[in-house]
Amino acid sequence: MEMQMVKELILQSLEHEKGGVKIYETALKCAQNEDLKEEWEKYHQETERHVQILQDVCSQMQLDAEEQTPGRKIVHDMGQSLVAAMEAALGAGDPAQAECVATECVVLAEEKDHSNWQLIGEVAKKMTGAEAKALKDAYKEVEDQEDEHYYHSKGWMRELSMQALGLKAVLPPPEEKKHVKTAIGAARAEQSRTKSH
Ligand SMILES: [Fe+2]
Ligand SMILES: [Fe+2]
Repeated sequence: MEMQMVKELILQSLEHEKGGVKIYETALKCAQNEDLKEEWEKYHQETERHVQILQDVCSQMQLDAEEQTPGRKIVHDMGQSLVAAMEAALGAGDPAQAECVATECVVLAEEKDHSNWQLIGEVAKKMTGAEAKALKDAYKEVEDQEDEHYYHSKGWMRELSMQALGLKAVLPPPEEKKHVKTAIGAARAEQSRTKSH
């Protein structure tokens, strides 16, 4: 394995989780739907925990959690741009629109979060010793939460966009009601919404 790239993956994942905390802080200002607010409050807390978990992984792997790299800077700036997009939407004075923008920003962020952790899981399988244990434990704690963050947020984005279009929306989204944690489950949930009306 390319250990330099493994280090980069961990540092970028940590940076992305830190950006995620800020994204949820801003997204919560945009949320109108009470169920969505509750959901995002939970994801916000979990994301704070993910920052802690990756900081712990860094110390167990003897990595400097603060080390800056060019790749990390890009991750940071992309996170900032999502926060800026939501701030702009809030400033435009249309709350429903701002809520939709926030769901889109959360989906974009969570897709990357989900794929970072998928890669961490793959790397953990190939490692040995104490480093492997640190990564495996981290992955075990986080993986289900990331599935939920991503698939449920996609459901919220779709349904709130439908509502904005004046089309029939299923709220909370079926992904939420069915506690979807897999891609196939998400596909089934999406299919069930079209069958039901
Ligand atoms: Fe996360
Ligand atoms: Fe997440």
